[in-house]
Amino acid sequence: MPENHSSTAPATSPVPAPARARREPMFPDGPAPDPAGSHHERRIRSFQPRRSRVTPGQGDALRRLWPQWGLDIDGLSRLDLGELFGDPDLPVVLEIGFGMGEATAQMAAADPGTGILACDVHTPGQGNLLGLAERNGLANVRVANGDAIILLREMLAPDSLAGVRVYFPDPWPKKRHHKRRLIQPEFLALAATRLAPGGLLHCATDWEPYAEQMLEVLSASPDFENTQPDGGFAPRPEFRPLTRFEGQGLDKGHVVHDLLFRRRAAR
Ligand SMILES: C[S@@+](CC[C@H](N)C(=O)[O-])C[C@H]1O[C@@H](n2cnc3c(N)ncnc32)[C@H](O)[C@@H]1O
Repeated sequence: MPENHSSTAPATSPVPAPARARREPMFPDGPAPDPAGSHHERRIRSFQPRRSRVTPGQGDALRRLWPQWGLDIDGLSRLDLGELFGDPDLPVVLEIGFGMGEATAQMAAADPGTGILACDVHTPGQGNLLGLAERNGLANVRVANGDAIILLREMLAPDSLAGVRVYFPDPWPKKRHHKRRLIQPEFLALAATRLAPGGLLHCATDWEPYAEQMLEVLSASPDFENTQPDGGFAPRPEFRPLTRFEGQGLDKGHVVHDLLFRRRAAR
């Protein structure tokens, strides 16, 4: 039945929410929908743009906290990480694809001496992580909105990161989608330039064929060395909490693999 917006509607009719113009951003001072205009760049992306509902709590966090703790990956300027975290000596780790951010917040709380630059394209997750950071008093988390490739390529200085974490990247199980997987030789070459010598690249996945692929390309990379003397997967380090995606994989009986590689000192 069509809605009745006529002036004769009874006074008790619900007031319709003010209409938002089609391209008007939902959070004017929050994360931009496509900060780098990356859909114009001819490149296969590792994520699929998705519309997900932002809860009132996540929306509130985005509105209040984004101006202080959020940053859009627009690819336009080099970041000064010392300035971003308010401490020029703080080692900074980049986490790519934090999802809803529960594990990120736990790791930040456990290690206040490390800055976590947490990057994802997922708006509800960005709001969730901002809320978690506020509720837990985490001063060492910054939330970056957009494609990690542009962040690495355009906005982070060489040797600026103490670590890179990629926990349960989208597995893209279909063969025709394998090219979308994040962990590929080109990604490793880029990440290696942004990691300081000795910096740790930590990946984890519950998708066995992807785990094998990760081990293969990481072992073949001239920029990284395996921290495991046997050249294999690493035991799950105690510092990595269970992530949401990992829990879902374990429920399905999947086996989880961690990979811990170090950037070599000399290239
Ligand atoms: C499968 S989820 C895993 C989330 C979380 N790490 C976990 O374990 O619960 C992968 C996440 O990576 C994000 N992602 C994929 N490619 C990305 C990219 N190039 N830049 C930023 N985020 C990306 C996706 O949006 C998604 O939230």
